[in-house]
Amino acid sequence: MRKIYVAGNWKMNLIDDITPVVQISKNVKNLEIIIFPPFTHLQKYSEILNKTNIKIGAQNVFYEDRGAFTGEISYKFLEEFGVKYVVIGHSERRNIFKESDELISLKLKKILKTDIKPIFCVGEKEQERNLNKQKIVVENQLKISLGGIENNFKNIIIAYEPVWAIGTGKNATPFDAQEMHQFIREQLSTLFGKNIAYQISIIYGGSVNDENAKDLFREDDVDGLFVGGASLKGEKFKKIIEIVEKQII
Ligand code: PGA
Repeated sequence: MRKIYVAGNWKMNLIDDITPVVQISKNVKNLEIIIFPPFTHLQKYSEILNKTNIKIGAQNVFYEDRGAFTGEISYKFLEEFGVKYVVIGHSERRNIFKESDELISLKLKKILKTDIKPIFCVGEKEQERNLNKQKIVVENQLKISLGGIENNFKNIIIAYEPVWAIGTGKNATPFDAQEMHQFIREQLSTLFGKNIAYQISIIYGGSVNDENAKDLFREDDVDGLFVGGASLKGEKFKKIIEIVEKQII
């Protein structure tokens, strides 16, 4: 059985009030709830969440342990705050900060040698979808960044996040999400074998909210949700978690 994730990516924002989320942090078998605050707030939230089942993640990481890399953060520093997950290859990193598939690959290879698990984001842009190139784009992202990885594949979590759906209020339809998740699993199967591909969780991100969460999560290959904007409102994020919990139990 694949692990289910509900993850909140705060980006360069803070949540209005985490209390509702903390209150529901009961242990649901097979469900992992993760929040990704900005680096500067990792300590604060790792203390707040210390006695809950909610995990803490970082939004980025560099692939070296230390050295002359101004502005970068090593996994060793993240570990000090109890970070268990890290986002790698988010479309905002790719598009605004020009991160390449090759750089993303170096980060993935590094993190897979540690106890931190990567949430590796892939997804096509609007123009690529309009040209029906979404599969080619995502296949390339997967091949370049996952090629050459030799072990711990099972620790990878993939987030399918079509760029046109991020922050736009226009989520992928459950049908389109399922089609892409299934396609991603086929690619993982080619890269790592069927058995491993079946065990890797693939979560959906892009304008997830408390109204579309149920239908998106219902799809067979959608193993969880990656939530941006709606994770900044404690009550809304709580609702999304509860929607997923109900469908698991
Ligand atoms: P959104 O962001 O939910 O605000 O669309 C998702 C993401 O970028 O992870």
